[in-house]
Amino acid sequence: MRAFTLTASLAAVSVGFFLACGPSTPPPDSAVGAGSTSATVAPPPVDTASAAPTVSAEPTASAVTSASAEPVMPATWKDAADGKQKGMFMKAKVMPKMKEVFQAHDAKKFAEVTCKTCHGPEHKAPKEFLPKLVFKGGKFTSEKEKPAMFKFMHEKVLPAMVEVLGEKPFDMKTMTGFGCGGCHTIDMAK
Ligand code: HEC
Ligand code: HEC
Repeated sequence: MRAFTLTASLAAVSVGFFLACGPSTPPPDSAVGAGSTSATVAPPPVDTASAAPTVSAEPTASAVTSASAEPVMPATWKDAADGKQKGMFMKAKVMPKMKEVFQAHDAKKFAEVTCKTCHGPEHKAPKEFLPKLVFKGGKFTSEKEKPAMFKFMHEKVLPAMVEVLGEKPFDMKTMTGFGCGGCHTIDMAK
């Protein structure tokens, strides 16, 4: 996803570059307007050599901005500061691990494990996309209703996710940490 943005912005840079280079003599006004820094740098706009740095001043600035935002892979989930970094972490760390876990459980059913497996086709928060769990009388109703799935979730999916996110396992006493509720909405029925 990030790669597209980078490519797009690079494409925009080169298009802008060529367009701007089109006229043989760039009007002095536009050279100044291109960026306050370029005004001091740009010598008399005579030949293409001087035009190039003037023109590149603005696109370079934006390319640098996006480039510095691109490749920063957060070391841990907690270091992921924004949606971009979270997405990167998901792709690089969460996906491979969870794919392995789901496929080891049922290679046929989970032949395809993608972002959609948890986020759905419209990329919602997993809690909004995945089935709601009902917690009743101190238990998840699914423990009885879908024992195999419950067991798999409890023994494989949750621990793997806790590990890959570097979270603490959910603790019923303190009600903190990452539990089933990290991916599912939990309906606390009485
Ligand atoms: C195994 C389930 C799972 C898979 C697969 C998965 N995610 Fe996530 N993702 C989650 C959960 C759970 C959260 C919320 C974690 C939290 O903050 O507690 C989350 C959060 C996110 C967030 C931050 C919240 C937001 O929407 O801004 C992004 C971005 C994200 N995921 C992107 C991705 C992308 C991109 C992929 C595919 C490469 C992916 N996820 C695959 C479970 C998953
Ligand atoms: C990393 C995210 C994640 C965590 C954590 C998680 N689940 Fe799930 N759960 C899923 C996904 C993804 C599915 C859907 C799998 C599929 O496509 O069939 C699912 C499906 C289920 C289902 C089947 C629901 C249905 O109606 O088919 C049950 C039951 C379930 N989870 C229970 C739990 C329980 C209980 C826990 C905590 C022990 C838990 N899950 C933790 C991601 C998670």
